[in-house]
Amino acid sequence: MSLGPGVVGEAWPDMSPPGERPYIWINCASSLDGRLAFAHGKRARLSSIEDLRRVQRLRLRVDAILVGVGTVIADDPSLRVHRELLGEDPAASHDGMRSGPLRIVLDSHGRTPEGSQVLDGKQPTVVLTVEGCHRRFPPSITVGGFGRGRIGLKAAMRWLLKRGTRSILVEGGSEVISSFVREGLVDHWTLYTAPIAIGGRSAPTVMSGPDAEEPEAHVRFRLLSTEKLGDGLLTTYEPVRGPPREA
Ligand SMILES: NC(=O)c1ccc[n+]([C@@H]2O[C@H](COP(=O)([O-])OP(=O)(O)OC[C@H]3O[C@@H](n4cnc5c(N)ncnc54)[C@H](OP(=O)(O)O)[C@@H]3O)[C@@H](O)[C@H]2O)c1
Repeated sequence: MSLGPGVVGEAWPDMSPPGERPYIWINCASSLDGRLAFAHGKRARLSSIEDLRRVQRLRLRVDAILVGVGTVIADDPSLRVHRELLGEDPAASHDGMRSGPLRIVLDSHGRTPEGSQVLDGKQPTVVLTVEGCHRRFPPSITVGGFGRGRIGLKAAMRWLLKRGTRSILVEGGSEVISSFVREGLVDHWTLYTAPIAIGGRSAPTVMSGPDAEEPEAHVRFRLLSTEKLGDGLLTTYEPVRGPPREA
């Protein structure tokens, strides 16, 4: 069943910045019971090959890919476009973009481990920290400090847009997705649900972070499309803006 523009048919939404920030697209893969990984955050390969290919096409469309330092520590992702999955030469240029999208890491206090793939200098990379963070990064890394204690996401997003980043793919993990959703920093969300049940207490859920202060402080989304993708299900949502609906 297809209920509107999805990704599989390559009908892409307009990714123009919706104001003083980049366009923000959240993408993640979860188990049937809404977990992003196995117990204690151990990486789970939840995407089917079809979904992995979709994500590579999506990575080629955006200006930047963003993750939190929790994901860097747990998974050590390269955040590169795996062109080999698309049947392309891994060294090929695409749309004039030889080195791939900008990589962005949210890392308030400089916890990104030395030797992490995101610090390898192979793609332009920004690490966002809080003001006054003393961690020294390799010269190839651009560092931006925003807020105290926790990174001020809205200010950081404005700064990124001013530097030319017009669209960002937020890939996780759980705490980062939670912050973007709670702060209203989302325009589009694709969720791949794998036919796997994980359960337990320590496997991270799609969203975590602090409890909402008000029970009504949820964010409502509108379903745009559903697609069977390999052995899983791809669902696409956009946020419903404006006052909350009466129950
Ligand atoms: N299935 C998937 O699609 C998928 C994708 C990605 C990750 N994952 C999984 O997700 C898990 C990691 O998730 P996680 O929640 O532990 O880590 P995370 O969301 O990747 O990173 C969270 C960390 O980012 C930093 N941060 C800085 N500013 C922040 C802000 N404004 N909001 C939120 N975080 C901010 C914080 O550390 P500091 O305070 O030190 O800055 C925070 O602890 C791993 O198990 C990984 O395998 C799954």
